[in-house]
Amino acid sequence: MGTAHARCLQEGHIEGMVLSAVCDSDPARLAECERLFPGVARFSSAEALVKSGLVDAAIVAVPHPSHGTVGALCLSYGLHTLVEKPL
Ligand SMILES: NC(=O)c1ccc[n+]([C@@H]2O[C@H](COP(=O)([O-])OP(=O)(O)OC[C@H]3O[C@@H](n4cnc5c(N)ncnc54)[C@H](O)[C@@H]3O)[C@@H](O)[C@H]2O)c1
Repeated sequence: MGTAHARCLQEGHIEGMVLSAVCDSDPARLAECERLFPGVARFSSAEALVKSGLVDAAIVAVPHPSHGTVGALCLSYGLHTLVEKPL
């Protein structure tokens, strides 16, 4: 689902938003992001991404048990945050 969101941003479907960074804790999924989104910053942890200062908004599409922690982390850094379903 995160890939679908990222693709939407990269293709310019959401006015005023650009894809600046992606994150996945799975090295294989993160490597795939390099192929899908060349030139976009990649992070293996949400904390490293939010601390980078590269983004001012985040789309959280991790599995349900992590929605709360990752969503709260993004909010604590002042990011506009969309969480894919249950908190
Ligand atoms: N709104 C919708 O229509 C819709 C549709 C499908 C999925 N979803 C939701 O999107 C979320 C993701 O679903 P999916 O099917 O893409 O799952 P997925 O398992 O394919 O992808 C989740 C990714 O998150 C990564 N991940 C897990 N914990 C992480 C962490 N702490 N930090 C960084 N990366 C982490 C995993 O490595 C994996 O690549 C789920 O909550 C699901 O319910 C919503």
